[in-house]
Amino acid sequence: MRFSPVQIALHDDQRDLGTAGTAILVRTLARLFPPGGTILDVGGGSGWAVPLLRAAGVVPILLDISPDMLAAAARRTVPRIQADLTRLPFRTAALAGIHASYALQNVADWRAAIHESARVLLPGGIAVVAWGSVPTDELLRDVSAHYLNLVRPWSGVEAERRGLDSTDVADATFAACGFDVLRPVSVTGNQIRTPRQIVERVAANPFRARPPAKARAAALTDTLGWTRARYGDLDLSREVTIQHVMHVYRRLDPPGTG
Ligand SMILES: C[S@@+](CC[C@H](N)C(=O)[O-])C[C@H]1O[C@@H](n2cnc3c(N)ncnc32)[C@H](O)[C@@H]1O
Repeated sequence: MRFSPVQIALHDDQRDLGTAGTAILVRTLARLFPPGGTILDVGGGSGWAVPLLRAAGVVPILLDISPDMLAAAARRTVPRIQADLTRLPFRTAALAGIHASYALQNVADWRAAIHESARVLLPGGIAVVAWGSVPTDELLRDVSAHYLNLVRPWSGVEAERRGLDSTDVADATFAACGFDVLRPVSVTGNQIRTPRQIVERVAANPFRARPPAKARAAALTDTLGWTRARYGDLDLSREVTIQHVMHVYRRLDPPGTG
């Protein structure tokens, strides 16, 4: 997958939970993962989570398929692996943890992604998976819905990803792979952003829709006009609430016997 530097910057922006939210996220990761454990950040992108995992006291390795994301992650000075998350280049029972933030759902064969996560984890190993949540912020929710409706004919991987209709399905698949399904953890953060920044960010996201450039530009213009009519000045900063929901799974069975 190819990404421009602007797309990567806008993509990373959506993860920003602000100072307080980020501190809570670090404390949460420290509680979930075993201290000092090697954690594979699958589909880790440009390395947004790397400093947070380090601050949480674990040792991250970043895996992604995109050369552009891996190039952007070079600034994190983290071990980087270019590989497909449905075929992890690790031996069975090698890792203390998997961190997957908005990644496993971005492949058509999401079942293979879960099976691979199960295979490489040690017994007792932890998988922390953000499957994606419904935006709690009204502006974010409205802008996403409006833009995605306009580009519906060019839907992204969601159209190919059959069967992953809810996180219950994901939980059941992890359970069938020998995992205890623990209680999900939600971290809320705040950003100060303008409506224009939010619209541009939504339109730059290639995962939910991949319209050709002309259709994307038309949908962006339409969404900016619609947002101005509904929310007023596009360049007036406001607080935007971001919710990061992590599903947590603990490996139970000795690998190979589950
Ligand atoms: C929505 S981004 C999330 C990135 C990062 N985890 C985050 O939270 O910002 C999804 C990432 O998955 C990667 N990806 C998509 N398909 C993949 C595959 N088959 N194997 C490995 N990575 C993949 C993309 O390149 C992208 O970096």
